[in-house]
Amino acid sequence: MTRAIDLAQRGRGSVEPNPMVGCVVVKNGKCISEGFHERFGCAHAEVNAISKLSAADVEGSTVYVTLEPCAHFGKTPPCVDLLLRSKPSRVVIGLQDPFPEVAGRGIHQLREAGIDVLVGVNADACERLLAPYLKRLRTGLPWIIAKWAMTLDGRLATHNKDSKWVTNEQSRQHAHRVRSCVDGIMVGVGTLLADDPMLTARAAASGADENLPYALPGNRNPIRIIMDRQARAPFESKLVQSARDQRTLIVCGPNAESRRVDALRDHGCEVVVCSNESSPTMIQELSKILIPAGMTNLLIDGGPRLIGSLIDHQLVDELHIYIAPKIVGGTPTVVPNHGQGVLRMDMANQIENPRIQLIGNDLFVSGLCKYS
Ligand SMILES: NC(=O)c1ccc[n+]([C@@H]2O[C@H](COP(=O)([O-])OP(=O)(O)OC[C@H]3O[C@@H](n4cnc5c(N)ncnc54)[C@H](OP(=O)(O)O)[C@@H]3O)[C@@H](O)[C@H]2O)c1
Repeated sequence: MTRAIDLAQRGRGSVEPNPMVGCVVVKNGKCISEGFHERFGCAHAEVNAISKLSAADVEGSTVYVTLEPCAHFGKTPPCVDLLLRSKPSRVVIGLQDPFPEVAGRGIHQLREAGIDVLVGVNADACERLLAPYLKRLRTGLPWIIAKWAMTLDGRLATHNKDSKWVTNEQSRQHAHRVRSCVDGIMVGVGTLLADDPMLTARAAASGADENLPYALPGNRNPIRIIMDRQARAPFESKLVQSARDQRTLIVCGPNAESRRVDALRDHGCEVVVCSNESSPTMIQELSKILIPAGMTNLLIDGGPRLIGSLIDHQLVDELHIYIAPKIVGGTPTVVPNHGQGVLRMDMANQIENPRIQLIGNDLFVSGLCKYS
């Protein structure tokens, strides 16, 4: 199952909104084939693993798969039918699929046919692998990754808002690889005003580092999203100017000036006017539009006010923090503490099982948020 999980991760950034799935076929104690779901709309992991084998090879084998085999016609036929035809003696499953059209039907059909089915093997690791998919199905919200780059004294920019560049070229390449794996990239209007960014994914195909999370580039071109309560986004910004070429959403509050909202729409931006200005409402109302269209992963690429507010509301799931061995000076402020933050250190939120890695001379700290 551990091998199947490793394989599954190779589909990150290419399979969503489908889940990442890996499959390994074992016979007489030997792995005889393996496969993973490589791209949305293409063959599932079980097909990729089993189609390399003869019928005699699969018969009597054990098939390990990270998620319950599908039992419905989606973009491809049901994997359960393939398994029923192939006659393995045992199917070992990481997790039951909560997708309403599967939800235990695959397991039931295999058992009905007399195949020995074991469910829940390495379930915690499968839950972690599939956390974004599971969150989307269970809550109707995207998996939110907050990323920032800072100096050792916790600065995201200098006092006059210069932030190019905090970290080294390799770290920035890694951040672009993450962008190429997500469906949406979001900043607050403060970052738009300070940096005039394009927010596109420009990941190099080579130079992947297998030791880092998001080791491989995906093939996503994320939707660009600006949190902008008063519709302050400048019409001449690169983002607004390119809105006709790449989907761009401006998320406003109810009091945004309608003249500016209309003008942003005229420039090709989609404008979402929320019913109130709180972060939870804005994220929820945005999700109602983007989740049905398949959004799974949303990357918050700054800046400090937006990230601080989302952390205060416990809306961030995963953190990616790049730390450069530099000191800006001035009064050290640990960022992004632009929301309220907690009152006492013993109330501080934690990163669960943090991974701390070197990227050149930069530190990369990543992990899941565990709120106090
Ligand atoms: N080092 C890094 O990783 C990094 C990354 C990004 C930015 N930066 C730097 O950060 C600086 C900009 O900082 P910033 O704090 O102004 O940027 P920001 O967080 O991108 O923008 C903040 C603004 O977003 C708007 N906003 C809309 N909805 C919000 C919500 N739910 N919660 C919070 N804010 C919301 C607010 O303006 P309204 O009330 O008008 O809507 C707020 O003033 C720049 O110097 C930039 O270079 C650094």
